[in-house]
Amino acid sequence: MSIWRFGTYGVRAFDPETAHRLTIGALKTGLGPRVKADRYPSLKTEVAGLAVPNPLGLAAGFDKNAEVPDALLRMGFGFVEVGAVTPKPQPGNPRPRVFRLPREQAVINRYGFNNDGLDAIGGRLASRASRPGIVGINLGANKDSDDRTQDYVAGVKALSSHVAFCTVNVSSPNTPGLRALQDQASLKALLSDVMAAREGAVPIFLKVAPDLTDEDKADIAAVVLSSRVDGLIVSNTTIGGREDLSQHGDEKGGLSGRPLFAPSTAVLREFAKALGGKVPLIGVGGIASADDAYAKIKAGASLIQLYTALIYKGPDLVPDILAGLAERLAVDGFSSVADAVGAEA
Ligand SMILES: Cc1cc2nc3c(=O)[nH]c(=O)nc-3n(C[C@H](O)[C@H](O)[C@H](O)COP(=O)(O)O)c2cc1C
Repeated sequence: MSIWRFGTYGVRAFDPETAHRLTIGALKTGLGPRVKADRYPSLKTEVAGLAVPNPLGLAAGFDKNAEVPDALLRMGFGFVEVGAVTPKPQPGNPRPRVFRLPREQAVINRYGFNNDGLDAIGGRLASRASRPGIVGINLGANKDSDDRTQDYVAGVKALSSHVAFCTVNVSSPNTPGLRALQDQASLKALLSDVMAAREGAVPIFLKVAPDLTDEDKADIAAVVLSSRVDGLIVSNTTIGGREDLSQHGDEKGGLSGRPLFAPSTAVLREFAKALGGKVPLIGVGGIASADDAYAKIKAGASLIQLYTALIYKGPDLVPDILAGLAERLAVDGFSSVADAVGAEA
């Protein structure tokens, strides 16, 4: 516990990337916090065939290289998404590439898919594949790839037998041109190839940006339905929201944390309406409390994820959200979290 405290509080004296590295290092020692993920029976749920002990997951980008998924599961998360992984290792953008905005409880990052590549990350995932706990992989494409679709296909082929789910991430703002894969024709072709490449029935999720026009959203909803992906993650970081920031407003990259809560929840709600319950939604963006988590669920999310709030609030946030969610469900008369999904509609 003390190392993690160092990892989340004292460590903020360091630049954010160094702090992040130190936190991963601390978790590697095995001395992280331990919280029972299945403490509240009402939080147990099943989504896309995954039986999770609770609906709160760790979002992609924290454990990019799959170094500490089991330590993260021990913190109480119901599931953990590692990555993004690209086929070849790549260094990402030059530093500095991540910026804290404490006043807004936000972060701007432009890491650009720095990661150890499919061989190294695949080896780590294979070596823990028989352990309990739901660990999924976030898939990206190499910056210099001349066939990005094949990058996702390679990821699914190499990893789908070692993970609980694969996420097709076409929504990072930090790889030039990547988000163009959200266009209807490109997305349709990409998802068709990815779905054909998977081993067995590993669920495939699609992760989208929050910065979409109404036409984009309608197109994506149509492709999601026709390609039979197993879930839609809403959303990645935003390239908008820069107007009122107290600092770093000129930094390129994706904004996450509190300022992302309202826009990402609005997009979630729209997709919930467009998909009509046919495809489960995973709500992410600015969750920092049980109220935020519950709001995403009532807006239509069957599962939720967070990242940025962990930087500011530390690991106690996980048991706090779980306890608060269980309490809110009981107060509102829901015996299980699944009953509250989309309840605001
Ligand atoms: C430093 C950092 C790195 C990230 N890296 C990835 C990534 O590799 N793949 C991805 O799909 N999302 C990535 N994300 C986005 C998060 O998974 C999440 O969608 C977003 O931050 C919104 O959630 P939050 O407000 O709780 O942080 C990253 C976010 C941050 C802050």
